[in-house]
Amino acid sequence: MSARVLDGTAIAAEIKEEVRREVETLAQSGIVPGLTVVLVGSDPASEIYVRSKVKTSAELGLASNLITLGIDVSQAELLNILQRLNDDDAVDGILVQLPLPRHIDTRAILEAVDPDKDVDGFHPVNVGRLTIGQESLVPCTPAGVMEVLRRQGIAVRGKDCVMVGRSDIVGKPMSTLLLNAGATVAVCHKETRDLPDYTRRAELLVVATGVPGLITPDMVREGAVLIDVGINRLDTRAQVERFFPDNPAKLATFQKRGSLLVGDFAPQSYAKASAYTPVPGGVGALTIAMLMHNTVKAARMRRRLRAAAVGGPA
Ligand code: GUN
Repeated sequence: MSARVLDGTAIAAEIKEEVRREVETLAQSGIVPGLTVVLVGSDPASEIYVRSKVKTSAELGLASNLITLGIDVSQAELLNILQRLNDDDAVDGILVQLPLPRHIDTRAILEAVDPDKDVDGFHPVNVGRLTIGQESLVPCTPAGVMEVLRRQGIAVRGKDCVMVGRSDIVGKPMSTLLLNAGATVAVCHKETRDLPDYTRRAELLVVATGVPGLITPDMVREGAVLIDVGINRLDTRAQVERFFPDNPAKLATFQKRGSLLVGDFAPQSYAKASAYTPVPGGVGALTIAMLMHNTVKAARMRRRLRAAAVGGPA
């Protein structure tokens, strides 16, 4: 039986539509949720992400605002700006795009954001709330993965889940969400001695390492659900041919674009799965949709309003 493809783009569209409707409802009470994105410097990848976040929020009717700062902005100046945004009642969500330049202490910046406006869910207060299962702003990518599972009817309670990757942005919050949902969770990382021994036991295998093709078919349990959080860029034809032997369509895409996005699973792994998220078009599409969701959630939480949408994300 062939594996079911979990279409992240379609699920993201569904969530964005729910957000748009909720923004309309809030507008009837005179509330326009506001998102401010802060970008320091001009890293091309960050610029693309930030533009996309601002554009999507505008499309959904949010009041979006971009603050662009020079690469040499001081930590004190950045802290001042965050203080101003914390105090501004029109701002519901604040996102400081990472990475920050090396002269700035990232932790100090993330901790300076009001936890109730922390739409990334990176503030220690939100990390703590998530850990003890309190309502909180949850990091967008892991929250998006939970939405994929929920909307596709994939139960996690009692399941053997393996998370490969232990980052603060994905691995740790993802494993906490799965644990809170009743799964048995193992978290693996670079120091794990026998990675295949763990991954082969996983009924649900979530991978966020940034190593293209790390997970090969021999590491996958028959019938597993595979969630690929990796977004890796292949830049040479040789890399593409090695990753996708005998795949003229992928080669043609590479030739047209000059690069190709791939995940952390080798594509041959899909044959053993019951369902999987593709790259591109899987988890990546969810991150911005969940940021929009978190902005509306922050607007509601600050005003102690309950969600208008029934059946939408928590
Ligand atoms: N840079 C890469 N991913 C992220 C993210 O999820 N949030 C922020 N703020 N910066 C990022």
